[in-house]
Amino acid sequence: MSVTVHQLAVGGFDHNFSYLAVAANGDALLVDPTGDAEVICRAVEAAGSITPRYILLTHGHLDHTQAVGEALGFFPAEVVAHPNHPLAGRTRLRDGQLLPFGETAVEAIFTPGHTRDSVCYRFADDSAVFTGDVLFVGCIGFCRSKEMYNSLMKKILPLADSLVVYSGHDYGPVPFRTLGEEKKLNPYLNCHSLEEFKAELQHLE
Ligand SMILES: [Fe+2]
Repeated sequence: MSVTVHQLAVGGFDHNFSYLAVAANGDALLVDPTGDAEVICRAVEAAGSITPRYILLTHGHLDHTQAVGEALGFFPAEVVAHPNHPLAGRTRLRDGQLLPFGETAVEAIFTPGHTRDSVCYRFADDSAVFTGDVLFVGCIGFCRSKEMYNSLMKKILPLADSLVVYSGHDYGPVPFRTLGEEKKLNPYLNCHSLEEFKAELQHLE
Protein backbone atom coordinates (compact mmCIF):
# COMPACT_ATOMS: atom_id res chain seq x y z
CA MET A 1 0.00 0.00 0.00
CA SER A 2 1.36 3.41 -0.88
CA VAL A 3 -0.01 5.05 2.28
CA THR A 4 0.38 3.74 5.84
CA VAL A 5 -2.36 4.76 8.25
CA HIS A 6 -1.75 4.83 11.99
CA GLN A 7 -4.97 4.75 14.01
CA LEU A 8 -4.31 6.56 17.29
CA ALA A 9 -6.46 5.93 20.38
CA VAL A 10 -6.16 9.41 21.87
CA GLY A 11 -8.85 9.20 24.54
CA GLY A 12 -10.61 12.53 24.28
CA PHE A 13 -14.25 12.99 25.20
CA ASP A 14 -15.38 9.54 24.17
CA HIS A 15 -12.93 7.01 22.73
CA ASN A 16 -11.82 9.38 20.01
CA PHE A 17 -9.48 8.40 17.19
CA SER A 18 -6.94 10.65 15.55
CA TYR A 19 -4.94 9.46 12.56
CA LEU A 20 -1.49 9.85 11.11
CA ALA A 21 -1.09 8.79 7.48
CA VAL A 22 2.29 8.60 5.77
CA ALA A 23 2.84 8.12 2.05
CA ALA A 24 5.82 6.24 0.60
CA ASN A 25 7.51 9.52 -0.36
CA GLY A 26 7.19 10.87 3.21
CA ASP A 27 4.13 13.08 2.68
CA ALA A 28 2.17 13.00 5.93
CA LEU A 29 -1.21 14.14 7.19
CA LEU A 30 -3.12 14.14 10.45
CA VAL A 31 -6.86 13.68 10.76
CA ASP A 32 -8.76 15.29 13.66
CA PRO A 33 -5.90 15.81 16.13
CA THR A 34 -7.62 15.67 19.52
CA GLY A 35 -7.40 14.13 22.97
CA ASP A 36 -3.89 13.28 24.20
CA ALA A 37 -1.54 15.30 21.96
CA GLU A 38 1.41 13.30 23.37
CA VAL A 39 0.13 10.16 21.64
CA ILE A 40 0.02 12.02 18.33
CA CYS A 41 3.43 13.61 18.87
CA ARG A 42 5.04 10.23 19.62
CA ALA A 43 3.52 8.74 16.46
CA VAL A 44 4.85 11.63 14.38
CA GLU A 45 8.31 11.23 15.92
CA ALA A 46 8.28 7.47 15.36
CA ALA A 47 7.41 8.02 11.68
CA GLY A 48 10.87 9.52 11.19
CA SER A 49 11.59 11.72 8.21
CA ILE A 50 8.23 12.99 6.99
CA THR A 51 6.83 16.09 5.31
CA PRO A 52 3.75 17.45 7.11
CA ARG A 53 1.26 18.31 4.36
CA TYR A 54 -2.23 18.60 5.85
CA ILE A 55 -4.25 18.55 9.03
CA LEU A 56 -7.64 17.33 7.84
CA LEU A 57 -10.67 18.14 10.00
CA THR A 58 -13.85 16.12 9.55
CA HIS A 59 -16.21 18.60 11.24
CA GLY A 60 -16.42 21.41 13.75
CA HIS A 61 -17.30 19.55 16.96
CA LEU A 62 -14.81 20.42 19.68
CA ASP A 63 -14.05 16.82 20.56
CA HIS A 64 -12.38 16.46 17.15
CA THR A 65 -10.22 19.57 17.26
CA GLN A 66 -8.89 19.85 20.84
CA ALA A 67 -5.26 19.17 19.90
CA VAL A 68 -5.06 21.14 16.63
CA GLY A 69 -3.16 24.00 18.27
CA GLU A 70 -0.62 21.68 19.88
CA ALA A 71 -0.31 19.58 16.73
CA LEU A 72 0.62 22.61 14.66
CA GLY A 73 3.66 22.96 16.93
CA PHE A 74 5.15 19.58 15.97
CA PHE A 75 3.31 19.10 12.66
CA PRO A 76 3.32 22.44 10.81
CA ALA A 77 0.85 21.79 8.00
CA GLU A 78 -2.07 23.39 6.25
CA VAL A 79 -5.38 23.00 8.09
CA VAL A 80 -8.03 21.69 5.70
CA ALA A 81 -11.73 21.77 6.56
CA HIS A 82 -15.16 22.66 5.21
CA PRO A 83 -15.40 26.42 4.50
CA ASN A 84 -17.92 26.77 7.35
CA HIS A 85 -15.61 25.07 9.85
CA PRO A 86 -14.36 27.49 12.51
CA LEU A 87 -10.73 26.43 11.90
CA ALA A 88 -10.86 26.34 8.08
CA GLY A 89 -7.49 27.32 6.65
CA ARG A 90 -6.58 29.28 3.57
CA THR A 91 -7.75 26.57 1.17
CA ARG A 92 -11.43 27.19 0.46
CA LEU A 93 -12.31 23.54 0.20
CA ARG A 94 -14.74 22.42 -2.49
CA ASP A 95 -16.75 19.19 -2.65
CA GLY A 96 -14.79 16.70 -4.72
CA GLN A 97 -11.53 18.64 -4.47
CA LEU A 98 -8.38 16.57 -4.82
CA LEU A 99 -5.39 17.39 -2.63
CA PRO A 100 -2.07 15.99 -3.89
CA PHE A 101 -0.61 13.46 -1.47
CA GLY A 102 2.27 11.07 -2.15
CA GLU A 103 1.56 8.99 -5.23
CA THR A 104 -2.18 9.43 -4.74
CA ALA A 105 -4.48 12.27 -3.65
CA VAL A 106 -7.00 12.99 -0.94
CA GLU A 107 -10.55 13.63 -2.13
CA ALA A 108 -12.75 15.84 0.05
CA ILE A 109 -16.30 14.52 0.02
CA PHE A 110 -18.89 16.83 1.58
CA THR A 111 -21.28 14.70 3.62
CA PRO A 112 -23.70 16.89 5.60
CA GLY A 113 -25.99 15.22 8.12
CA HIS A 114 -24.10 14.84 11.40
CA THR A 115 -23.17 18.51 10.98
CA ARG A 116 -23.45 20.86 8.04
CA ASP A 117 -19.64 21.04 7.81
CA SER A 118 -19.02 17.27 7.76
CA VAL A 119 -16.39 16.14 5.27
CA CYS A 120 -15.12 12.62 4.56
CA TYR A 121 -11.62 12.28 3.12
CA ARG A 122 -10.86 9.45 0.70
CA PHE A 123 -7.51 8.35 -0.65
CA ALA A 124 -7.95 8.31 -4.42
CA ASP A 125 -6.19 4.93 -4.60
CA ASP A 126 -9.24 3.58 -2.72
CA SER A 127 -7.21 2.36 0.26
CA ALA A 128 -8.91 4.31 3.03
CA VAL A 129 -11.59 6.85 3.91
CA PHE A 130 -11.78 8.99 7.05
CA THR A 131 -15.41 9.41 7.99
CA GLY A 132 -15.41 11.40 11.24
CA ASP A 133 -18.82 11.12 12.87
CA VAL A 134 -20.69 10.37 9.64
CA LEU A 135 -20.02 6.64 9.55
CA PHE A 136 -18.86 4.44 12.43
CA VAL A 137 -18.17 0.72 12.37
CA GLY A 138 -21.71 -0.68 12.43
CA CYS A 139 -23.35 2.65 13.18
CA ILE A 140 -23.60 6.36 12.29
CA GLY A 141 -23.49 9.65 14.16
CA PHE A 142 -26.42 11.64 15.46
CA CYS A 143 -27.91 13.50 12.55
CA ARG A 144 -30.53 15.39 10.66
CA SER A 145 -32.16 12.42 9.02
CA LYS A 146 -32.80 13.62 5.46
CA GLU A 147 -29.37 15.18 4.96
CA MET A 148 -27.60 12.14 6.44
CA TYR A 149 -29.65 9.70 4.37
CA ASN A 150 -28.76 11.59 1.19
CA SER A 151 -25.07 11.73 2.12
CA LEU A 152 -24.93 8.00 2.89
CA MET A 153 -26.85 6.92 -0.20
CA LYS A 154 -25.38 9.34 -2.74
CA LYS A 155 -21.85 9.94 -1.41
CA ILE A 156 -20.78 6.93 0.68
CA LEU A 157 -22.54 3.88 -0.80
CA PRO A 158 -21.11 4.41 -4.32
CA LEU A 159 -17.53 4.33 -2.98
CA ALA A 160 -15.27 1.30 -3.42
CA ASP A 161 -15.62 -1.74 -1.15
CA SER A 162 -11.85 -1.82 -0.69
CA LEU A 163 -11.76 1.39 1.36
CA VAL A 164 -10.89 0.89 5.02
CA VAL A 165 -13.29 3.02 7.03
CA TYR A 166 -11.49 5.01 9.72
CA SER A 167 -14.03 6.82 11.87
CA GLY A 168 -13.84 9.41 14.62
CA HIS A 169 -14.72 7.20 17.59
CA ASP A 170 -14.09 3.63 18.67
CA TYR A 171 -17.76 2.64 18.86
CA GLY A 172 -17.84 -0.60 16.92
CA PRO A 173 -17.08 -4.26 17.60
CA VAL A 174 -13.71 -3.69 15.86
CA PRO A 175 -11.77 -0.42 15.48
CA PHE A 176 -12.04 -0.42 11.68
CA ARG A 177 -13.24 -2.52 8.80
CA THR A 178 -13.76 -2.11 5.08
CA LEU A 179 -16.57 -0.24 3.43
CA GLY A 180 -17.48 -3.51 1.72
CA GLU A 181 -18.13 -4.99 5.17
CA GLU A 182 -20.04 -1.90 6.26
CA LYS A 183 -22.27 -2.19 3.19
CA LYS A 184 -23.17 -5.72 4.34
CA LEU A 185 -23.29 -5.22 8.11
CA ASN A 186 -24.18 -1.60 8.90
CA PRO A 187 -27.98 -1.30 9.18
CA TYR A 188 -27.87 2.40 8.23
CA LEU A 189 -26.39 1.53 4.84
CA ASN A 190 -29.13 -1.00 4.26
CA CYS A 191 -32.23 1.19 4.39
CA HIS A 192 -34.22 1.36 1.20
CA SER A 193 -36.15 4.54 1.96
CA LEU A 194 -35.96 7.63 4.13
CA GLU A 195 -38.83 6.25 6.21
CA GLU A 196 -36.92 3.03 6.86
CA PHE A 197 -33.86 5.10 7.75
CA LYS A 198 -35.85 7.25 10.20
CA ALA A 199 -37.17 4.11 11.88
CA GLU A 200 -33.62 2.74 12.20
CA LEU A 201 -32.49 6.04 13.77
CA GLN A 202 -34.64 5.29 16.79
CA HIS A 203 -32.04 2.64 17.72
CA LEU A 204 -29.27 5.26 17.99
CA GLU A 205 -28.22 5.58 21.61
FE1 LIG B 1 -19.34 15.06 16.12
